Amino acid sequence: MTDTLTPVLSANWADERAWKIANYEHRGGYTALRTALAMTPDQIIGEVKDAGLRGRGGAGFPTGMKWSFVPQDNPNPKYLVVNADESEPGTCKDIPLMMASPHTLVEGVIISSYAIRAHHAFIYVRGEVLHVIRRLQQAVREAYSAGYLGKNILGTGYDLEIVVHAGAGAYICGEETALLDSLEGRRGQPRLRPPFPAVAGLYACPTVINNVESIASVPGIVGKGAGWFASMGTEKSKGHGIFSLSGHVARPGQYEAPMGITLRELIDLGGGMRNGHALKFFTPGGSSTQILTGDHLDMPLDFDSVMAAGSLLGTRALQIFDETTSVVRTTLRWIEFYKHESCGKCTPCREGNWWLVQMLKKFEAGQAEDGDIEKMLDVADNIGGKSFCALADGAVACVTSAVHQFRSEFEAGYRTPAWELFPYERSALFPVKTAGGHA
Ligand SMILES: Cc1cc2nc3c(=O)[nH]c(=O)nc-3n(C[C@H](O)[C@H](O)[C@H](O)COP(=O)(O)O)c2cc1C
Ligand code: SF4
Repeated sequence: MTDTLTPVLSANWADERAWKIANYEHRGGYTALRTALAMTPDQIIGEVKDAGLRGRGGAGFPTGMKWSFVPQDNPNPKYLVVNADESEPGTCKDIPLMMASPHTLVEGVIISSYAIRAHHAFIYVRGEVLHVIRRLQQAVREAYSAGYLGKNILGTGYDLEIVVHAGAGAYICGEETALLDSLEGRRGQPRLRPPFPAVAGLYACPTVINNVESIASVPGIVGKGAGWFASMGTEKSKGHGIFSLSGHVARPGQYEAPMGITLRELIDLGGGMRNGHALKFFTPGGSSTQILTGDHLDMPLDFDSVMAAGSLLGTRALQIFDETTSVVRTTLRWIEFYKHESCGKCTPCREGNWWLVQMLKKFEAGQAEDGDIEKMLDVADNIGGKSFCALADGAVACVTSAVHQFRSEFEAGYRTPAWELFPYERSALFPVKTAGGHA
């Protein structure tokens, strides 16, 4: 393990007009594509497997293995779908990547599509980020003009079309099967599995769905080799990853580092906590992952170590909160998000998150009643593991871990409003207008 940064995907972000194809090529861009097209598809899948790349969209499923599930004896077309919906609170790595260097993703899409024998690829982008959508569309146009897309790519006989598709701004459409429904023009709601997308995905055809960062990591693996990628990170979480540091740190931002770096190292790289403050709690991988505390500052941020600590690495969205923050208020804000984003398909999630908001509001106002902590945990227990998709599990993770780590703050909610214990203006990053003591 090393504590230095490993800029690979982010290496060109500060370059002059890094998003232009000429500047990308100037740095060696699209040479990995030439290497890939001289290999067989199976050789590329083997290289990605050997590299040990695990999905960067949250669950950490091995990417090469996912690709090998696509049944090649199935006569239907194969599709690659890139999940660029990025809507998890705290997660902000794919959007800057696509904005700064869209060709890293486009090159990854071409190589990955070739590996799974797809001739159509889709990039499903969160609808609100119009600037990113335009930049991607421009990059795709440039790649067509350069002969990297379309018919007979670089004279190899391989054809590929890419469609950049804008979503309509629903968090649930990041869930891979809801994304497929949305891409097909239906209301985005999760599908029952099996069948899994690798067998029957988009238009009931074999489909690989991967996160932006997973696909953008492929040119590096093909160009520099599986050994190069695997030399970074830990034994079971190899390679580089973008860690998104937000909240009460001096210099929030994207820090690309080897998997397994610790939060202590990242906070040091980020200039420390904001002036004079101490870490209270953090999310290792976005709001859907159980909160952890200063006891976990030296935990390696890799898939297995974070799971052993009772949480998940998720998307490496490290939201940092100092001692001025109310855990009750933070949890309420997150659950308001999940209540709003619940797609409504199943009752425990649709109704349960609504009830959690009502209960958390009482805790925030200092008006909770005896037994309300147990009641809230009971509601959470009736949501987690009893709903149709992982949105619900993510929602209850923040509630149960908040009560587990900071029960006394919820007990204080029987008497004292959170805004008295933790005034907004102390925890706010920017000046806030207050009305009647709370914003
Ligand atoms: C509610 C919900 C939202 C999700 N949002 C995203 C997302 O925005 N981007 C993403 O890559 N994966 C998201 N996922 C995970 C995807 O379902 C899927 O696991 C991932 O795209 C697979 O890519 P990977 O193997 O490269 O990680 C979400 C999952 C859930 C349950
Ligand atoms: S768990 Fe929530 S988001 Fe997922 S299908 Fe059920 S209602 Fe929809």
